Amino acid sequence: MTVLTSALDTAGPAYAARRAAMLAKLAELDAEHAKAVAGGGPKYVERHRKRGKLLARERIELLIDPDSPFLELSPLAAWGTDFTVGASVVTGIGVVEGVECVIAASDPTVRGGSSNPWTMRKSFRASEIALRNRLPVINLVESGGADLPTQKEIFIPGGRTFRDLTRLSAAGIPTIALVFGNSTAGGAYLPGMSDYVVMVKERAKVFLGGPPLVKMATGEESDDESLGGAEMHARTSGLADYMAADERDALRIGRRIVARLNWRKQGREPLPARPPAYDEEELLGIVPEDLKVPFDPREVIARIVDGSDFDEFKPLYGDSLVTGWATLHGYPIGILANARGVLFGAEAQKAAQFIQLANQTGTPLLFLQNTTGYMVGAEYEQGGIIKHGAMMINAVSNSRVPHLTVVMGASYGAGNYGMCGRAYDPRFLFTWPSAKSAVMGPAQLAGVLSIVGRQAAQARGQDYDEEADARMREMVERQIEAESLPFFLSGRLYDDGVIDPRDSRTVLGLCLSAINSAPADEPAQGYGVFRM
Ligand code: COA
Repeated sequence: MTVLTSALDTAGPAYAARRAAMLAKLAELDAEHAKAVAGGGPKYVERHRKRGKLLARERIELLIDPDSPFLELSPLAAWGTDFTVGASVVTGIGVVEGVECVIAASDPTVRGGSSNPWTMRKSFRASEIALRNRLPVINLVESGGADLPTQKEIFIPGGRTFRDLTRLSAAGIPTIALVFGNSTAGGAYLPGMSDYVVMVKERAKVFLGGPPLVKMATGEESDDESLGGAEMHARTSGLADYMAADERDALRIGRRIVARLNWRKQGREPLPARPPAYDEEELLGIVPEDLKVPFDPREVIARIVDGSDFDEFKPLYGDSLVTGWATLHGYPIGILANARGVLFGAEAQKAAQFIQLANQTGTPLLFLQNTTGYMVGAEYEQGGIIKHGAMMINAVSNSRVPHLTVVMGASYGAGNYGMCGRAYDPRFLFTWPSAKSAVMGPAQLAGVLSIVGRQAAQARGQDYDEEADARMREMVERQIEAESLPFFLSGRLYDDGVIDPRDSRTVLGLCLSAINSAPADEPAQGYGVFRM
């Protein structure tokens, strides 16, 4: 056995300080999540209930198996924008009749459930997750369609919504639409492009144009029911496959549809799992509030992998990056974790080798990020740091095994790329509240701007305004700091959610299970040319 030993002093002041800082950040996170849960606020929630309707999250709760978890995705979408946190849609992975499905429920209490640019990005991400991991899709529809004031941002790219649905279907992934209310104009293609459609009697409204538009266009007098009611679509147009008596009946029918999909996962069965030997609660006290202070990622690994059992690979070489093998909830994984922030040539080469080994055996990879990027300076440039970093980025980019990324701390510069940041398509990417990500640190970025400004003034033969420089630096530092924080980045859909470190094992286990709905990937066919 290769059980990790922990040096974490859980009785010491450093641990207490780290824990307190993390708990404070988690309290802020809870407050932001509460905004997403509150949707359009009490006035609209009350109005919705008075109409005898269930809220988006209540619909999801009744759809999934009793007491099963729902892995909500991108709950902070639209954070820091003019739109409501959560972006008027709830997305996630839930288990329906024993089948892991991607579920997307529009929130009709937020501007009639209409789609703004962030709703669109969040929905695209959910559909990408469904396609990549072969998860059936269930849309719970009640939406005012495009958010009209921002239509220019969504009308053209938003067409992908319908393209994605039919591509899922073509890939053998069933799509189901349960229509609870409005689903008009472009929105009509949500049921239109789905494999199975359920409409709620006297509630569903599915038409290309409503009565006023029809009157304007053709002069014809009509009403909602004859144009697009459930009864009409179930009996006359044939767009509805099932008519539900009410919302709960629609959810029941949705469950029956999934039960009859005869769905089988095509990936690996997990091995028997053991809990870690150390308490997951202690994950609160590992990351220092000041990210310049390094921490040992083995303390994290010891609290998330089965039995804290970790076979470290190449422990004596490139020790600023920890690599090794473990299982998590019974799924074999390879782990790459930053140890001291900076990546040198040796670490980059070690990573490239390790990624190839994982591809040889079809083992998924988990990247635990806490990196300030690749080492700079004449010695390192001369030593070929660009070539070595390129080697690691080549390996990450062309690796075919599933990747999972957790940003625990710093994620700066090309370190974000080499450690499988968002642009490198990890199957899932989650962030801890302690994370910070930017092209470089705020002080460094402001300093670079200052040096560039000073040199430009010199070149023009002008005096440099030191006071203005100090003001600029302070302003830039504040701006970059704010833009580096997890809520801001999550708001822009640069991750799949900010999670409590204590939930990491559970969240990663749910992801690994979902990933194994799809067949295991073939070993890498080849890499780009490795620049040696
Ligand atoms: N874009 C922007 N805002 C919208 C919107 C849209 N597509 N649909 C609704 N809203 C806003 C409303 O203006 C209202 O805002 P307010 O409360 O600040 O006045 C709020 O969302 C709630 O709308 P309301 O009409 O009161 O809710 P409802 O539940 O009674 O009706 C709809 C919901 C969706 C049926 C109705 O709002 C509607 O028909 N919207 C337009 C649908 C449409 O034609 N969309 C274009 C399709 S591409």
